[in-house]
Amino acid sequence: MSVHVIVGSQWGDEGKGKIVDLLSENTDVCARYQGGPNAGHSIVLGDKKYILHLIPSGIIHSGVINVIGNGVVIDPAVLFEEIEFLKKNDIDVTGRLKISGNAHLILPYHKVLDKAQESSKQQNKIGTTGRGIGPAYVDKYNRSGIRVVDLLDENTLREKIKQNLYQKNKILATIYGVEALSAESIVEQYLTYGEMISGFIDDVSIYLNDALKKDKNILAEGAQGTLLDVDFGTYPFVTSSNPISGAACVGLGIGPTKIRRVTGIIKAYTTRVGEGPFPTEFSGKQGEEMRALGDEYGATTGRPRRCGWFDVPIAKLAIRLSGIDSFALTKLDVLDTLDEIKICVSYFIGDEKIDDFPTNIKKQEQLDCEYISLPGWKSPTTEIKKYEDLPVNAKRYVEKIEELTNVPVSIISIGPDRNQTIVRESFVF
Ligand code: GDP
Ligand code: IMO
Ligand code: MG
Repeated sequence: MSVHVIVGSQWGDEGKGKIVDLLSENTDVCARYQGGPNAGHSIVLGDKKYILHLIPSGIIHSGVINVIGNGVVIDPAVLFEEIEFLKKNDIDVTGRLKISGNAHLILPYHKVLDKAQESSKQQNKIGTTGRGIGPAYVDKYNRSGIRVVDLLDENTLREKIKQNLYQKNKILATIYGVEALSAESIVEQYLTYGEMISGFIDDVSIYLNDALKKDKNILAEGAQGTLLDVDFGTYPFVTSSNPISGAACVGLGIGPTKIRRVTGIIKAYTTRVGEGPFPTEFSGKQGEEMRALGDEYGATTGRPRRCGWFDVPIAKLAIRLSGIDSFALTKLDVLDTLDEIKICVSYFIGDEKIDDFPTNIKKQEQLDCEYISLPGWKSPTTEIKKYEDLPVNAKRYVEKIEELTNVPVSIISIGPDRNQTIVRESFVF
């Protein structure tokens, strides 16, 4: 039938995992199109919590086929750990997981380089996840990367690892003073991964296009978020891929005409992990309070997330870049106890009023926010099932976001559990 893209609309961790799992109930296929194990997508079902880094969030629904597209960078160690974790939780991926042979691999030297680069920086640290994402994408675009399919050919694999290590070991030793890595132990390890992964490899583009011809629904799951996009985010404080919806075509091998719908996942406030500009960020105690209320700690690294108010120019940037036609507004319940809630509607630099999030990092760092203030609702929302039953001020807040962004909020999330979700009838999928 068609493709529905799910895209992070802020700096990641908006609750994509929860919403993708929810929507997977009506989906045949769920496909990740970019990023790698820097992602941490949480799904909560009762007392069970699943944090997925590489495997798409459709995996919990037993009827869904899950696909890792060519746009993803795969660390086989993380992949097999995740498969094992799922197995222990009675979720069998056999026959339900397809991996593109064209996807690039993360190798041990990518992780070592990622960490060495970060720790050697005196200033402008990005605060990466240390998962080797940047260096793996660098090799992909440098045409020296190693792809999943290479794991199946011992000679090719050995040759490529040796060539790469020849260069990487020099860089590690000379620039970072880090010990050389041994090619042969990596070759042995990755040949084992090759045996383990061979049954999952498929031509993902053919599979997905055939599925569309057979009238199947495909959910394309983005990782990270718009403001971490390597082209449009707060560069250089970004990730090394394109989380925006257009990347779903490139990262899966499908044409843009197949995308029917784009849903932006957006928190009722804003968070960011790692360094870089963040106009609405709270300082001091207010930030700590919001972090505690929202339990804002990274799902991949456990780092505390920076917190701030909802930012309309950022939402508008996400809408513009991804063609978002509705929002899933998450973590509304986190605001339940607040007296006052603010929304940033535009910025100022000195006397200059700025309505659009600027592309220039220097300007991004200087933004003063213009806020409007709304009264809080001061009552719990986590058990509410219908939109009409939300407190009046909570509805006012949701409708103010719709008014300011000109995009309907089709889903409201009021707790981490799959059941703690309000799907507004007027926008049912
Ligand atoms: P993702 O990377 O976009 O999938 O988001 P993460 O899983 O990294 O972070 C979202 C966190 O918020 C997770 O711990 C979720 O379980 C949790 N969460 C998701 N939706 C809600 C919600 O509506 N309310 C609350 N309180 N927590 C939520
Ligand atoms: P999900 O999919 C939040 C951030 C890192 C760092 C920057 C670059 O769970 O929303 P990288 O390791 O990618 O080179 O780090 O990007 N980052 C994320 N922040 N959620 C994520 O993924 C992220 N993936 C990367 O913190 O600032
Ligand atoms: Mg996350």
